[in-house]
Amino acid sequence: MIQAPRGASDILPEDEAHWTFVESVAAEVSHLYGYRRIETPVFEDTGLFTRGVGEETDIVQKEMYTFQDRGGNSLTLRPEGTAPVCRAYLEHGMQNLPQPVKLFYLSSLYRYERPQAGRYRAFHQFGFEAIGEADPALDAEVIDMSWQFYRKLGIGALHLVLNSIGCKVCRPAYLAKLRDYFQNCQGGLCQDCKGRLERNPLRLLDCKNEACQGLAAGAPRSVDHLCPECSAHFEQLKRHLSSLELPFEINNCLVRGLDYYTRTVFEVQPEIEGSQSTVGGGGRYDYLIEELGGKPTPALGFATGMERIVDNLKKQNVAVPPVPPARVYVAWLGEPAAESALQLAARLRLEGIPALQGLGGKSLKAQLRQANSLGARYAVIIGEEELKTGLLPFRDMTNSEQHLVHLPELLEAVRSGK
Ligand code: HAM
Repeated sequence: MIQAPRGASDILPEDEAHWTFVESVAAEVSHLYGYRRIETPVFEDTGLFTRGVGEETDIVQKEMYTFQDRGGNSLTLRPEGTAPVCRAYLEHGMQNLPQPVKLFYLSSLYRYERPQAGRYRAFHQFGFEAIGEADPALDAEVIDMSWQFYRKLGIGALHLVLNSIGCKVCRPAYLAKLRDYFQNCQGGLCQDCKGRLERNPLRLLDCKNEACQGLAAGAPRSVDHLCPECSAHFEQLKRHLSSLELPFEINNCLVRGLDYYTRTVFEVQPEIEGSQSTVGGGGRYDYLIEELGGKPTPALGFATGMERIVDNLKKQNVAVPPVPPARVYVAWLGEPAAESALQLAARLRLEGIPALQGLGGKSLKAQLRQANSLGARYAVIIGEEELKTGLLPFRDMTNSEQHLVHLPELLEAVRSGK
């Protein structure tokens, strides 16, 4: 039997309540902060990611689902949402709108990773991007929005980790220092880090290997090598975060896995587990729009994995609003009543009442059993007698009490019933 590909899974009806809750809180919080929804295509020109995310990143080197279409174009299933949103910003002339342009998305993403708990090949993110503003108050607002999102969901035991990794002006000198430092302790580095040392020395700071982590702890810190502008930006951001009473921590090894970041980088991590289970991350990417062919345009954003959120909601036993069950089950007896049952169920739905009807000519007992197992609050029974009198047996499924009602009373009872 064909099964879902490794690392890809189905979102089943039993998880509908959790997913609907997360999506609705995402939209609610987005609107509170002035974001509007955007959805980009599932596939993009491969160049968007090689240029945008960075040739040296794990995503581009090892994780993209890239294919040639029948027209010979190289396309890639989106591994992340920021570059596509920036592409859309430019393509639709959003630089002519009042800035910053604030966009959010709820999208599926694809990365060829080694599947494990919380890490999939097909997954979903709630992400948001604020494009066209350099003010550190916007960084504070974006960080606050991500924090308030988890708060509104009711997920606790998280912490907010922050760093600044500088800009074009200050980063080259810092990278040189970092390279020098790690070159002197090459013997202790893992194979991956040895390879990354020349190409992407920042990534050595967040290697998961214990020996590399030990070395990273003593490495030069980006915050000590910021240019005056980056330093002022970072100081201002920290003041804003404190004035918003957001409980952030500075982590000098936080660098993030995508190459487009400048200045602010931040993550939201669970208090107990390691960075493998980071629930969300983001930062500034002041050169990305330019890299994609636009004018210099500062921007920043954040994204959080939906599967990881649902996981945390369940682990922390957060109660989510249930999906409304069917309110009324319309059972019927004898062929002449079948049409009336169809009509009554349709009428109830027109009134906004979730209704199901007996199907397949089941016995009354089987229909009531089904009404029960589907969680219907009421059942109404139509038989030949009822067709003549218009009086319908109306049963409260919670206590099996039954009485006869006319249709208007039935509607009233269903609407007002608990
Ligand atoms: P990212 O750190 O690659 O950043 O992903 C953000 C979040 O997506 C992660 O913290 C995690 O919750 C979730 N995630 C990532 N990969 C997987 C996976 N394989 N399986 C399940 N969940 C995963 C970005 O994607 C940036 N575009 C974020 C951003 C927006 N930066 C600025 N704007």
